[in-house]
Amino acid sequence: MAEERMLITGGQRLEGTVRVSGGKNTAVAIIPAAILSQTPCVIENLPNIEDVHVSVETLEYLGAKVNWDPAEGIMEVDSSSICRTDVPLELSRRMRASSYYIGALLARFGSARVPLPGGCNIGRRPIDQHIKGMRALGAQVELSRGTVIAEAEPLAGGDVFLDMATVGGTINVMLAASRAQGITTIYNAAKEPHIVDLANFLNSMGCRVKGAGTDIIRVRGTQSLAARRPYAVIPDQIETGTLMIAAAATHGDVTVTGCIPTHMEALTAKLLEMGAKVYERDDSIRVKSIGSHRAVSFKTQVYPGFPTDLQQPMSALLCTATGTSTVVENLFESRFLHLAEMERMGARVRVYEQTAIIEGVPQLHGAAVEATDLRAGAALVVAGLMAQGTTEIFNTHFIDRGYENIEAKLSSLGASISRVKE
Ligand code: EPU
Repeated sequence: MAEERMLITGGQRLEGTVRVSGGKNTAVAIIPAAILSQTPCVIENLPNIEDVHVSVETLEYLGAKVNWDPAEGIMEVDSSSICRTDVPLELSRRMRASSYYIGALLARFGSARVPLPGGCNIGRRPIDQHIKGMRALGAQVELSRGTVIAEAEPLAGGDVFLDMATVGGTINVMLAASRAQGITTIYNAAKEPHIVDLANFLNSMGCRVKGAGTDIIRVRGTQSLAARRPYAVIPDQIETGTLMIAAAATHGDVTVTGCIPTHMEALTAKLLEMGAKVYERDDSIRVKSIGSHRAVSFKTQVYPGFPTDLQQPMSALLCTATGTSTVVENLFESRFLHLAEMERMGARVRVYEQTAIIEGVPQLHGAAVEATDLRAGAALVVAGLMAQGTTEIFNTHFIDRGYENIEAKLSSLGASISRVKE
Protein backbone atom coordinates (compact mmCIF):
# COMPACT_ATOMS: atom_id res chain seq x y z
CA MET A 1 0.00 0.00 0.00
CA ALA A 2 1.27 3.46 -0.85
CA GLU A 3 2.61 5.30 2.16
CA GLU A 4 0.78 8.54 2.87
CA ARG A 5 2.33 11.64 4.40
CA MET A 6 0.72 14.78 5.68
CA LEU A 7 2.48 18.01 4.78
CA ILE A 8 1.93 21.09 6.91
CA THR A 9 3.52 24.46 6.36
CA GLY A 10 3.28 26.20 9.69
CA GLY A 11 2.83 29.78 10.72
CA GLN A 12 -0.67 30.36 9.29
CA ARG A 13 -3.10 31.89 11.77
CA LEU A 14 -6.29 29.78 11.96
CA GLU A 15 -9.43 31.86 11.70
CA GLY A 16 -13.10 31.11 11.18
CA THR A 17 -15.76 28.60 12.16
CA VAL A 18 -15.57 24.82 12.04
CA ARG A 19 -18.15 22.18 12.92
CA VAL A 20 -17.13 19.26 15.11
CA SER A 21 -18.06 15.69 14.09
CA GLY A 22 -19.84 13.08 16.18
CA GLY A 23 -17.84 11.45 18.96
CA LYS A 24 -15.52 8.56 18.14
CA ASN A 25 -15.55 6.97 21.56
CA THR A 26 -19.31 7.23 21.85
CA ALA A 27 -19.87 5.93 18.29
CA VAL A 28 -17.79 2.81 18.86
CA ALA A 29 -19.89 2.01 21.96
CA ILE A 30 -23.32 2.81 20.51
CA ILE A 31 -22.79 0.83 17.29
CA PRO A 32 -22.31 -2.52 19.13
CA ALA A 33 -25.21 -1.54 21.41
CA ALA A 34 -27.41 -1.73 18.28
CA ILE A 35 -26.98 -5.53 18.56
CA LEU A 36 -29.21 -5.36 21.64
CA SER A 37 -32.24 -4.01 19.77
CA GLN A 38 -34.92 -6.32 18.42
CA THR A 39 -35.92 -3.68 15.89
CA PRO A 40 -33.70 -1.87 13.36
CA CYS A 41 -31.79 1.05 14.89
CA VAL A 42 -30.98 4.35 13.23
CA ILE A 43 -27.88 6.10 14.59
CA GLU A 44 -27.12 9.65 13.48
CA ASN A 45 -24.18 12.08 13.67
CA LEU A 46 -21.62 9.31 13.28
CA PRO A 47 -18.13 10.44 12.24
CA ASN A 48 -16.68 9.13 8.99
CA ILE A 49 -13.53 7.68 10.55
CA GLU A 50 -11.65 4.41 10.39
CA ASP A 51 -12.95 3.08 13.73
CA VAL A 52 -16.54 3.44 12.49
CA HIS A 53 -15.61 1.57 9.29
CA VAL A 54 -14.17 -1.26 11.42
CA SER A 55 -17.40 -1.26 13.47
CA VAL A 56 -19.45 -1.63 10.27
CA GLU A 57 -17.24 -4.48 9.07
CA THR A 58 -17.65 -6.18 12.43
CA LEU A 59 -21.45 -5.96 12.39
CA GLU A 60 -21.55 -7.21 8.80
CA TYR A 61 -19.25 -10.12 9.65
CA LEU A 62 -21.67 -11.08 12.44
CA GLY A 63 -24.50 -11.11 9.89
CA ALA A 64 -26.24 -7.81 10.70
CA LYS A 65 -27.62 -5.72 7.84
CA VAL A 66 -25.94 -2.32 7.90
CA ASN A 67 -26.84 0.64 5.77
CA TRP A 68 -24.18 3.29 6.35
CA ASP A 69 -24.13 6.67 4.68
CA PRO A 70 -20.77 8.21 5.65
CA ALA A 71 -21.53 11.53 3.98
CA GLU A 72 -24.68 12.00 6.08
CA GLY A 73 -23.30 10.24 9.16
CA ILE A 74 -26.39 8.02 9.36
CA MET A 75 -26.35 4.27 9.94
CA GLU A 76 -29.21 1.84 10.03
CA VAL A 77 -28.48 -1.47 11.76
CA ASP A 78 -30.78 -4.48 11.60
CA SER A 79 -29.37 -7.04 13.99
CA SER A 80 -32.16 -9.61 13.48
CA SER A 81 -30.03 -11.45 10.89
CA ILE A 82 -26.98 -11.91 13.17
CA CYS A 83 -25.94 -15.53 12.78
CA ARG A 84 -22.61 -15.77 14.61
CA THR A 85 -21.08 -14.57 17.86
CA ASP A 86 -17.35 -14.54 17.10
CA VAL A 87 -15.23 -11.60 15.99
CA PRO A 88 -12.19 -12.44 13.84
CA LEU A 89 -8.70 -11.40 14.90
CA GLU A 90 -8.31 -9.38 11.71
CA LEU A 91 -11.07 -7.02 12.95
CA SER A 92 -10.50 -7.09 16.72
CA ARG A 93 -6.86 -6.12 16.36
CA ARG A 94 -7.79 -2.96 14.47
CA MET A 95 -9.74 -1.30 17.26
CA ARG A 96 -9.77 -1.16 21.05
CA ALA A 97 -13.57 -0.99 21.13
CA SER A 98 -13.81 -4.51 19.67
CA SER A 99 -14.01 -5.62 23.29
CA TYR A 100 -17.54 -4.13 23.44
CA TYR A 101 -18.75 -6.96 21.22
CA ILE A 102 -18.18 -9.29 24.19
CA GLY A 103 -20.75 -7.46 26.34
CA ALA A 104 -23.22 -6.88 23.50
CA LEU A 105 -23.11 -10.44 22.06
CA LEU A 106 -23.21 -12.01 25.50
CA ALA A 107 -26.27 -9.94 26.42
CA ARG A 108 -28.18 -10.73 23.23
CA PHE A 109 -27.07 -14.31 22.43
CA GLY A 110 -25.48 -15.66 25.61
CA SER A 111 -22.13 -16.26 23.97
CA ALA A 112 -19.16 -14.35 22.53
CA ARG A 113 -15.68 -15.17 21.22
CA VAL A 114 -13.57 -12.08 20.76
CA PRO A 115 -9.77 -11.98 20.45
CA LEU A 116 -8.14 -9.48 22.81
CA PRO A 117 -8.55 -6.08 21.16
CA GLY A 118 -5.88 -4.00 19.47
CA GLY A 119 -6.07 -0.23 19.22
CA CYS A 120 -3.55 2.49 19.91
CA ASN A 121 -0.27 1.43 21.42
CA ILE A 122 -0.22 3.81 24.37
CA GLY A 123 0.72 1.38 27.12
CA ARG A 124 -0.76 -1.67 28.78
CA ARG A 125 -4.48 -1.95 28.19
CA PRO A 126 -5.79 -5.00 30.02
CA ILE A 127 -9.50 -5.89 30.11
CA ASP A 128 -9.47 -7.73 33.43
CA GLN A 129 -12.13 -5.37 34.85
CA HIS A 130 -14.46 -6.05 31.90
CA ILE A 131 -14.11 -9.77 32.52
CA LYS A 132 -14.56 -9.41 36.26
CA GLY A 133 -17.77 -7.46 35.63
CA MET A 134 -19.21 -10.09 33.31
CA ARG A 135 -18.36 -12.85 35.76
CA ALA A 136 -20.23 -10.88 38.45
CA LEU A 137 -23.30 -11.14 36.17
CA GLY A 138 -22.94 -14.91 36.07
CA ALA A 139 -21.03 -15.33 32.80
CA GLN A 140 -18.36 -17.97 32.41
CA VAL A 141 -15.40 -16.22 30.87
CA GLU A 142 -12.05 -17.70 29.98
CA LEU A 143 -9.08 -16.62 27.94
CA SER A 144 -7.88 -19.19 25.46
CA ARG A 145 -4.96 -18.49 23.14
CA GLY A 146 -5.59 -14.74 23.30
CA THR A 147 -9.35 -15.02 22.70
CA VAL A 148 -12.00 -14.17 25.28
CA ILE A 149 -14.63 -16.91 25.34
CA ALA A 150 -17.74 -15.95 27.26
CA GLU A 151 -20.93 -17.95 27.83
CA ALA A 152 -23.99 -17.22 29.94
CA GLU A 153 -27.42 -18.76 30.27
CA PRO A 154 -28.89 -16.25 31.12
CA LEU A 155 -27.08 -13.25 32.64
CA ALA A 156 -28.34 -12.05 36.02
CA GLY A 157 -27.84 -8.59 37.52
CA GLY A 158 -25.14 -8.24 40.19
CA ASP A 159 -22.80 -5.85 41.95
CA VAL A 160 -19.63 -4.88 40.09
CA PHE A 161 -16.85 -3.06 41.92
CA LEU A 162 -14.34 -1.68 39.42
CA ASP A 163 -10.77 -1.36 40.71
CA MET A 164 -10.35 1.81 38.64
CA ALA A 165 -12.87 4.01 36.85
CA THR A 166 -12.33 2.35 33.47
CA VAL A 167 -14.25 3.73 30.51
CA GLY A 168 -14.20 0.49 28.53
CA GLY A 169 -14.99 -1.66 31.57
CA THR A 170 -17.98 0.52 32.51
CA ILE A 171 -19.33 0.43 28.94
CA ASN A 172 -18.88 -3.33 28.56
CA VAL A 173 -20.63 -4.08 31.86
CA MET A 174 -23.49 -1.70 30.93
CA LEU A 175 -23.90 -3.54 27.61
CA ALA A 176 -23.90 -6.96 29.30
CA ALA A 177 -26.29 -5.79 32.03
CA SER A 178 -28.79 -4.21 29.62
CA ARG A 179 -30.66 -7.49 29.00
CA ALA A 180 -29.71 -9.29 32.23
CA GLN A 181 -32.40 -10.34 34.68
CA GLY A 182 -32.55 -7.89 37.58
CA ILE A 183 -30.44 -4.94 38.62
CA THR A 184 -26.72 -4.46 38.09
CA THR A 185 -24.90 -1.84 40.13
CA ILE A 186 -21.53 -0.63 38.89
CA TYR A 187 -19.44 1.00 41.62
CA ASN A 188 -16.52 3.31 40.77
CA ALA A 189 -17.94 3.71 37.27
CA ALA A 190 -16.31 6.02 34.74
CA LYS A 191 -18.11 9.35 34.28
CA GLU A 192 -16.99 10.34 30.77
CA PRO A 193 -19.58 11.97 28.48
CA HIS A 194 -19.74 8.86 26.27
CA ILE A 195 -20.89 6.78 29.27
CA VAL A 196 -23.86 9.12 29.64
CA ASP A 197 -24.51 8.95 25.89
CA LEU A 198 -24.56 5.15 25.94
CA ALA A 199 -26.94 5.23 28.92
CA ASN A 200 -29.26 7.57 27.01
CA PHE A 201 -29.16 5.27 23.98
CA LEU A 202 -29.95 2.18 26.09
CA ASN A 203 -32.77 4.06 27.82
CA SER A 204 -34.17 5.11 24.43
CA MET A 205 -34.49 1.38 23.66
CA GLY A 206 -36.42 0.66 26.88
CA CYS A 207 -33.58 -0.20 29.27
CA ARG A 208 -33.49 1.56 32.65
CA VAL A 209 -30.05 2.98 33.36
CA LYS A 210 -29.71 5.46 36.21
CA GLY A 211 -26.74 7.34 37.59
CA ALA A 212 -24.64 7.57 34.40
CA GLY A 213 -22.28 10.51 34.86
CA THR A 214 -21.81 9.65 38.56
CA ASP A 215 -19.62 6.90 39.97
CA ILE A 216 -22.52 4.55 40.72
CA ILE A 217 -24.57 3.32 37.77
CA ARG A 218 -27.64 1.09 38.13
CA VAL A 219 -28.90 -0.89 35.15
CA ARG A 220 -32.24 -2.66 35.29
CA GLY A 221 -32.03 -5.11 32.41
CA THR A 222 -34.88 -5.87 30.08
CA GLN A 223 -35.19 -8.62 27.49
CA SER A 224 -37.27 -6.56 25.09
CA LEU A 225 -34.98 -3.74 24.01
CA ALA A 226 -36.22 -2.06 20.85
CA ALA A 227 -35.05 1.09 19.10
CA ARG A 228 -38.02 3.39 18.53
CA ARG A 229 -36.51 6.54 17.04
CA PRO A 230 -33.22 7.71 15.51
CA TYR A 231 -30.50 8.43 18.05
CA ALA A 232 -27.81 11.10 17.43
CA VAL A 233 -24.45 10.58 19.12
CA ILE A 234 -22.91 13.49 21.04
CA PRO A 235 -20.18 15.65 19.48
CA ASP A 236 -16.56 14.59 19.81
CA GLN A 237 -15.04 16.03 22.98
CA ILE A 238 -11.49 15.27 21.86
CA GLU A 239 -11.83 16.65 18.34
CA THR A 240 -13.33 19.82 19.86
CA GLY A 241 -10.35 20.08 22.20
CA THR A 242 -7.84 19.42 19.43
CA LEU A 243 -9.36 22.23 17.34
CA MET A 244 -9.32 24.56 20.37
CA ILE A 245 -5.64 23.77 20.94
CA ALA A 246 -4.87 24.27 17.22
CA ALA A 247 -6.54 27.70 17.43
CA ALA A 248 -4.36 28.70 20.39
CA ALA A 249 -1.25 27.18 18.79
CA THR A 250 -1.56 29.46 15.75
CA HIS A 251 -2.58 32.53 17.77
CA GLY A 252 -5.81 32.29 15.85
CA ASP A 253 -9.47 33.02 16.38
CA VAL A 254 -11.59 29.90 15.86
CA THR A 255 -15.17 29.07 16.78
CA VAL A 256 -15.94 25.37 17.09
CA THR A 257 -19.66 24.80 16.55
CA GLY A 258 -21.91 21.86 17.36
CA CYS A 259 -19.94 21.04 20.51
CA ILE A 260 -20.83 20.77 24.21
CA PRO A 261 -18.74 23.43 26.04
CA THR A 262 -19.35 21.88 29.48
CA HIS A 263 -17.41 18.78 28.34
CA MET A 264 -14.41 21.03 27.73
CA GLU A 265 -14.03 22.67 31.15
CA ALA A 266 -10.67 21.10 32.07
CA LEU A 267 -9.09 22.23 28.80
CA THR A 268 -10.78 25.64 28.84
CA ALA A 269 -9.39 26.31 32.32
CA LYS A 270 -5.84 25.50 31.15
CA LEU A 271 -6.10 27.62 27.99
CA LEU A 272 -7.31 30.56 30.09
CA GLU A 273 -4.40 30.00 32.48
CA MET A 274 -2.04 30.12 29.49
CA GLY A 275 -3.41 33.51 28.49
CA ALA A 276 -5.78 32.55 25.65
CA LYS A 277 -9.35 33.83 25.58
CA VAL A 278 -12.19 31.31 25.54
CA TYR A 279 -15.82 32.30 24.96
CA GLU A 280 -18.55 29.70 25.51
CA ARG A 281 -22.07 29.70 24.12
CA ASP A 282 -24.72 26.96 24.32
CA ASP A 283 -23.26 24.81 21.56
CA SER A 284 -20.13 26.57 20.41
CA ILE A 285 -16.82 27.60 21.85
CA ARG A 286 -14.48 30.31 20.56
CA VAL A 287 -10.75 30.36 21.25
CA LYS A 288 -8.84 33.53 20.51
CA SER A 289 -5.20 33.96 21.27
CA ILE A 290 -2.93 36.93 20.84
CA GLY A 291 0.64 37.08 22.07
CA SER A 292 2.68 34.48 23.86
CA HIS A 293 1.35 31.75 26.14
CA ARG A 294 2.37 31.08 29.73
CA ALA A 295 3.64 27.61 30.65
CA VAL A 296 1.15 25.57 32.73
CA SER A 297 1.23 22.23 34.50
CA PHE A 298 -1.41 19.52 34.63
CA LYS A 299 -2.08 15.85 35.37
CA THR A 300 -4.32 13.63 33.30
CA GLN A 301 -7.29 12.25 35.20
CA VAL A 302 -10.61 10.59 34.61
CA TYR A 303 -13.51 12.90 33.71
CA PRO A 304 -14.03 15.69 34.68
CA GLY A 305 -10.24 15.97 35.08
CA PHE A 306 -7.91 16.77 32.20
CA PRO A 307 -8.44 14.00 29.58
CA THR A 308 -5.48 11.83 28.65
CA ASP A 309 -6.61 12.02 25.01
CA LEU A 310 -5.93 15.78 25.00
CA GLN A 311 -2.64 15.51 26.88
CA GLN A 312 -0.74 14.89 23.65
CA PRO A 313 -1.99 17.88 21.60
CA MET A 314 -1.82 20.07 24.73
CA SER A 315 1.75 19.11 25.56
CA ALA A 316 2.66 19.89 21.92
CA LEU A 317 1.24 23.39 22.43
CA LEU A 318 3.25 23.82 25.64
CA CYS A 319 6.50 23.31 23.70
CA THR A 320 6.33 26.97 22.64
CA ALA A 321 4.93 28.47 25.85
CA THR A 322 7.06 30.84 27.91
CA GLY A 323 8.53 28.96 30.87
CA THR A 324 8.61 25.36 32.00
CA SER A 325 5.53 23.12 32.09
CA THR A 326 5.15 19.83 33.92
CA VAL A 327 2.76 17.24 32.54
CA VAL A 328 1.94 14.05 34.43
CA GLU A 329 0.28 11.24 32.45
CA ASN A 330 -1.59 9.12 34.98
CA LEU A 331 -3.54 6.75 32.71
CA PHE A 332 -1.21 5.24 30.12
CA GLU A 333 2.55 4.56 30.23
CA SER A 334 3.45 5.39 26.63
CA ARG A 335 1.73 8.63 25.85
CA PHE A 336 4.76 10.89 25.46
CA LEU A 337 6.16 9.44 22.23
CA HIS A 338 5.04 12.52 20.26
CA LEU A 339 7.40 14.61 22.40
CA ALA A 340 10.38 12.52 21.32
CA GLU A 341 9.33 13.16 17.71
CA MET A 342 8.95 16.85 18.46
CA GLU A 343 12.57 17.04 19.61
CA ARG A 344 13.35 16.77 15.87
CA MET A 345 11.41 20.02 15.51
CA GLY A 346 13.41 21.78 18.22
CA ALA A 347 11.24 21.01 21.27
CA ARG A 348 13.09 20.87 24.61
CA VAL A 349 11.65 18.06 26.69
CA ARG A 350 12.73 15.64 29.39
CA VAL A 351 10.59 12.64 30.22
CA TYR A 352 10.93 10.83 33.56
CA GLU A 353 8.59 7.85 33.58
CA GLN A 354 5.09 9.38 33.66
CA THR A 355 6.24 13.00 33.87
CA ALA A 356 7.30 15.30 31.05
CA ILE A 357 9.14 18.52 31.77
CA ILE A 358 8.69 20.85 28.83
CA GLU A 359 10.89 23.91 28.51
CA GLY A 360 9.19 26.25 26.06
CA VAL A 361 11.18 27.43 23.02
CA PRO A 362 10.31 30.55 20.99
CA GLN A 363 9.92 28.64 17.72
CA LEU A 364 9.68 25.08 16.39
CA HIS A 365 10.91 24.23 12.91
CA GLY A 366 9.46 21.77 10.42
CA ALA A 367 10.85 18.23 10.26
CA ALA A 368 9.91 14.71 9.18
CA VAL A 369 8.09 13.07 12.10
CA GLU A 370 6.16 9.87 12.70
CA ALA A 371 2.76 9.48 14.35
CA THR A 372 2.91 6.57 16.80
CA ASP A 373 -0.79 6.58 17.72
CA LEU A 374 -3.95 8.58 17.08
CA ARG A 375 -3.49 11.45 19.53
CA ALA A 376 0.27 11.53 18.96
CA GLY A 377 -0.66 12.19 15.33
CA ALA A 378 -2.98 15.02 16.42
CA ALA A 379 -0.17 16.44 18.56
CA LEU A 380 2.18 16.45 15.57
CA VAL A 381 -0.46 18.26 13.51
CA VAL A 382 -0.57 20.95 16.22
CA ALA A 383 3.23 21.06 16.21
CA GLY A 384 3.30 21.35 12.41
CA LEU A 385 0.82 24.24 12.49
CA MET A 386 3.08 26.12 14.94
CA ALA A 387 6.42 25.37 13.26
CA GLN A 388 8.37 27.46 10.81
CA GLY A 389 8.69 25.64 7.49
CA THR A 390 7.22 22.32 6.42
CA THR A 391 6.50 19.33 8.65
CA GLU A 392 5.98 15.89 7.12
CA ILE A 393 3.93 13.49 9.23
CA PHE A 394 4.26 9.79 8.47
CA ASN A 395 1.77 7.09 9.58
CA THR A 396 -1.27 9.25 8.87
CA HIS A 397 -3.51 6.17 9.15
CA PHE A 398 -3.42 6.64 12.93
CA ILE A 399 -4.94 10.11 12.56
CA ASP A 400 -7.71 8.74 10.30
CA ARG A 401 -8.84 6.42 13.10
CA GLY A 402 -10.32 9.35 14.99
CA TYR A 403 -10.44 12.58 13.00
CA GLU A 404 -12.90 13.11 10.16
CA ASN A 405 -11.58 15.24 7.29
CA ILE A 406 -8.91 16.86 9.40
CA GLU A 407 -7.14 18.42 6.41
CA ALA A 408 -10.37 19.88 5.01
CA LYS A 409 -11.38 21.28 8.38
CA LEU A 410 -8.00 22.88 9.09
CA SER A 411 -7.67 24.14 5.48
CA SER A 412 -11.05 25.85 5.79
CA LEU A 413 -9.57 27.77 8.73
CA GLY A 414 -6.53 28.85 6.70
CA ALA A 415 -3.99 26.10 7.45
CA SER A 416 -1.60 25.00 4.74
CA ILE A 417 -2.07 21.23 5.00
CA SER A 418 -2.24 18.48 2.41
CA ARG A 419 -1.67 14.76 1.98
CA VAL A 420 0.60 13.07 -0.50
CA LYS A 421 1.02 9.44 -1.48
CA GLU A 422 4.48 8.10 -2.13
N1 EPU B 1 -7.46 -0.69 32.96
C1 EPU B 1 -7.14 -1.85 33.60
N2 EPU B 1 -7.99 -2.93 33.46
C2 EPU B 1 -9.11 -2.87 32.71
C3 EPU B 1 -9.42 -1.68 32.04
C4 EPU B 1 -8.57 -0.59 32.18
O1 EPU B 1 -6.14 -1.96 34.30
O2 EPU B 1 -9.82 -3.88 32.62
C5 EPU B 1 -6.58 0.50 33.12
C6 EPU B 1 -5.87 0.88 31.84
O3 EPU B 1 -4.67 0.19 31.68
C7 EPU B 1 -5.69 2.38 32.02
C8 EPU B 1 -6.89 2.80 32.86
O4 EPU B 1 -7.41 1.61 33.44
O5 EPU B 1 -4.54 2.62 32.78
C9 EPU B 1 -7.99 3.50 32.08
O6 EPU B 1 -8.33 2.75 30.93
P1 EPU B 1 -9.80 2.79 30.32
O7 EPU B 1 -10.36 1.43 30.40
O8 EPU B 1 -10.56 3.91 30.93
O9 EPU B 1 -9.49 3.14 28.81
P2 EPU B 1 -10.07 2.43 27.53
O10 EPU B 1 -11.50 2.09 27.72
O11 EPU B 1 -9.12 1.40 27.06
C10 EPU B 1 -10.96 4.67 26.50
C11 EPU B 1 -10.81 5.40 25.21
C12 EPU B 1 -9.40 5.95 25.11
C13 EPU B 1 -9.15 6.87 26.30
C14 EPU B 1 -9.42 6.14 27.62
C15 EPU B 1 -9.33 7.03 28.84
C16 EPU B 1 -12.31 4.23 23.76
C17 EPU B 1 -12.50 3.31 22.62
N3 EPU B 1 -11.05 4.47 24.12
O12 EPU B 1 -10.00 3.63 26.48
O13 EPU B 1 -9.37 6.70 23.92
O14 EPU B 1 -7.81 7.29 26.29
O15 EPU B 1 -10.74 5.57 27.59
O16 EPU B 1 -10.22 8.09 28.75
O17 EPU B 1 -13.26 4.75 24.31
C18 EPU B 1 -8.34 7.68 22.05
O18 EPU B 1 -9.47 8.07 21.71
O19 EPU B 1 -7.27 8.08 21.51
C19 EPU B 1 -8.23 6.73 23.14
C20 EPU B 1 -7.13 6.03 23.36
